[in-house]
Amino acid sequence: MEGGLQRYRVVAIPGDGVGPEVVAAARRVVDAAGERFGFTVEWTEILAGGAAIDAYGVAIRPEDVEVCRGADAILLGAVGGPRWSDPSAPVRPEQALFALRGGLGLWANLRPVKVHPALVSSSPLRPELLKDVDLLVVRELTGGVYFGERQEADQGRGERRAVDTMPYGEDEIRRIVLLAAAMALTRRRHLTSVDKANVLATSRLWRRLVDEDRFRFPDVEVTHQLVDSCAMLLVKDPARFDVIVTENLFGDILSDEAAVLAGSLGMLPSASLGEDVTAQGGRFGLYEPIHGSAPDIAGQDKANPIGTILSAAMMLFHSMHRADAAAAVEGAVATAIDAGWRTADLADPSNQDDGLVVVGTTAMATAVIEALEATVPA
Ligand code: IPM
Ligand code: MG
Repeated sequence: MEGGLQRYRVVAIPGDGVGPEVVAAARRVVDAAGERFGFTVEWTEILAGGAAIDAYGVAIRPEDVEVCRGADAILLGAVGGPRWSDPSAPVRPEQALFALRGGLGLWANLRPVKVHPALVSSSPLRPELLKDVDLLVVRELTGGVYFGERQEADQGRGERRAVDTMPYGEDEIRRIVLLAAAMALTRRRHLTSVDKANVLATSRLWRRLVDEDRFRFPDVEVTHQLVDSCAMLLVKDPARFDVIVTENLFGDILSDEAAVLAGSLGMLPSASLGEDVTAQGGRFGLYEPIHGSAPDIAGQDKANPIGTILSAAMMLFHSMHRADAAAAVEGAVATAIDAGWRTADLADPSNQDDGLVVVGTTAMATAVIEALEATVPA
């Protein structure tokens, strides 16, 4: 530690579409938090996704994955866009995500969903269903059908056929279930393990391992839930859930569904963690909002930066062990919302009279920074 200031190294990956705008906004918030809490962040920027395809012909260069490996954390905006959206192209923006997740061993994806009371009307669900919603989806991120062997349909004659496979090994399942149980212990101590054990062999193994390992977390109440009924319960009675743990593809689908509860995809953060620890003893991780690159509003200062700002708060918590700064950033986001600041995705255009102030990406970040600075003395 030079000069008493803790330094963290973070790789920023702005990516495509609104990615650069939301990452720039979140960087300002992190730097402002650093000033108040006595740390600095050394940022390195790399290209990934469509931007990297344009510049280098690949979604992410192997040397840039190594740059990420050498950092304490990665803050990513979003990748993809209509220019690179052909799903059968050999080079696709999402390959950057898989290279980072798989290549850096980031097997645990945490997607918390909380409903800010002032945003209840932004959700399509009835307000009474949203009361007390506070759940965490823990998605396995480096296994299953995403990484299993596949056979594309483009070769051969006759009827076209394609094959995807969904492999899971016992260690892969055990570690994610244990991590989810540990998270449940810091929350309301309820774990819902989601599978399709009435059909899938991997799910039957999953369920068996959860039962075998239950004794390791006796204070956590465990429920098994089939994925189809879980999908239904998430909109019927979302407040019943605390921690949901599930395999990669189910987690992908259920987390988008759960995101609807919060009123806008733009609100939600995520963290992807593995085993690696940072030089300061934090957990190495990748942080990104749940939303995509939203090409229709890119470059217009319209995107909601809160998902990325809250992802940066998760980075402060998990990778930097700065629970104080993380809580301050989360508090500042809540204060800004309470004060009536809204990006367009959260505004109700039919109600001009609601006392809310609709602002762009930059001004929303400024509102969060001002709230942070008002509550944390210099
Ligand atoms: C996500 C996204 C990705 C996924 C896509 C972009 C490949 O939907 O992070 O949830 O399916 O994992
Ligand atoms: Mg998804």
